[in-house]
Amino acid sequence: MSGKILVTGGAGYIGSHTCILLIEAGYEVIVFDNFSNSSIESIKRVEKIVGSSIVVIEGDIRNRDDLRGVFENHKIDAVIHFAGLKAVGESVEQPLRYYDNNISGTVALCEVMSEYSCKSIVFSSSATVYGDPHTTPIKEDFSVSATNPYGRSKLFIEEILRDLYVSDNSWKVVLLRYFNPVGAYKSGDIGEDPKDIPNNLMPFIAQTAVGKREFLNVFGDDYNTHDGTGVRDYIHVMDLADGHVKAINKIKSFNDVMTINLGAGKGYSVLDVLKAYEMASGKEIPYKIAPRRDGDIASCYADPSYAREILGWEAKRDINQMCIDSWRWQSKNPDGYKS
Ligand code: NAD
Ligand code: WQD
Repeated sequence: MSGKILVTGGAGYIGSHTCILLIEAGYEVIVFDNFSNSSIESIKRVEKIVGSSIVVIEGDIRNRDDLRGVFENHKIDAVIHFAGLKAVGESVEQPLRYYDNNISGTVALCEVMSEYSCKSIVFSSSATVYGDPHTTPIKEDFSVSATNPYGRSKLFIEEILRDLYVSDNSWKVVLLRYFNPVGAYKSGDIGEDPKDIPNNLMPFIAQTAVGKREFLNVFGDDYNTHDGTGVRDYIHVMDLADGHVKAINKIKSFNDVMTINLGAGKGYSVLDVLKAYEMASGKEIPYKIAPRRDGDIASCYADPSYAREILGWEAKRDINQMCIDSWRWQSKNPDGYKS
């Protein structure tokens, strides 16, 4: 495959892993990132892994001139749009910052793409748009809702991109709804590097296993699930990355808006993940049962059959592999990219 792909947020967790597979598939990658939640070190390590250099542009998607500079200098074929803020709790405290960064940023990006007649975009949406689903597994046509500004920013952006397509059918839009991305590249040189105390389960477990946290709080053991703890669809970040490459391959051959779940289609509880991580790391991971976390739901996992049908994609790595790869990254880099 060939073509130039602009990867906004390409220095972040999912973006950096996706860059590897894009380059291996033959695409030229331009990373655009303001490093608000990442560092250039991730890209340096990706360059080592792929054995070639990557064009990196420091800029903000809200700044149209920053973006115009990229499109002036590069003939971009498609954009994978990862750039965004993603902490649910923070979004409740700072809604305007989230709406400005995520929504205004996407509007600016699409305007500049339009100016340069680049109308192919793959967008990072989230299973959070399903709110509290009435049943599982979750299909793409389930009703959507949001309980926090982060989730609403994803819902609004999906709608904005649909409206854009209605206004101009030459747009090609893929909305990828990720379930719970975890794990790391197999070498353990890149991975998830939370800036503060991790909000998400797997990085918190990883930091507990490596001795940076004393114990895991298990948020609730009285849900209606097989062991009472919350059930989620964990998906290996390299499988997720592969989904983006397949979306980019596909985008050339259609004009439409496609909404696609990227999940493994299996639900694991908090205690299932904890046990799998203990096996992978050979460490005992202390935990305490704590009250439920506000806004959490009992169970969430995908029906991933549409991704298989439309993209020929399915998740290949199981929960044990996710924990093994997460542990390799965490134990090699106890302080993340600062290590
Ligand atoms: P991340 O924070 O690691 O990566 C996002 C990147 O975007 C960072 O490098 C950050 O510096 C950059 N960025 C943020 N705002 C920017 C701006 N205004 N201009 C330029 N760059 C900017 O997050 P991630 O986990 O890799 O997530 C990538 C995308 O996937 C996000 O949009 C996120 O909402 C979405 N998503 C993530 C998850 C998850 O659990 N990780 C789940 C569903 C959806
Ligand atoms: C998983 C399970 C927790 C931490 C979030 C966002 C979602 C998406 C993915 C971006 C739940 C439990 C967690 C801990 C725990 N992100 N848990 N102790 O909540 O499914 O989804 O990340 O789009 O929008 O909401 O993921 O990893 O936070 O939680 O017991 O210290 O682990 O209660 O059952 P979640 P998570």
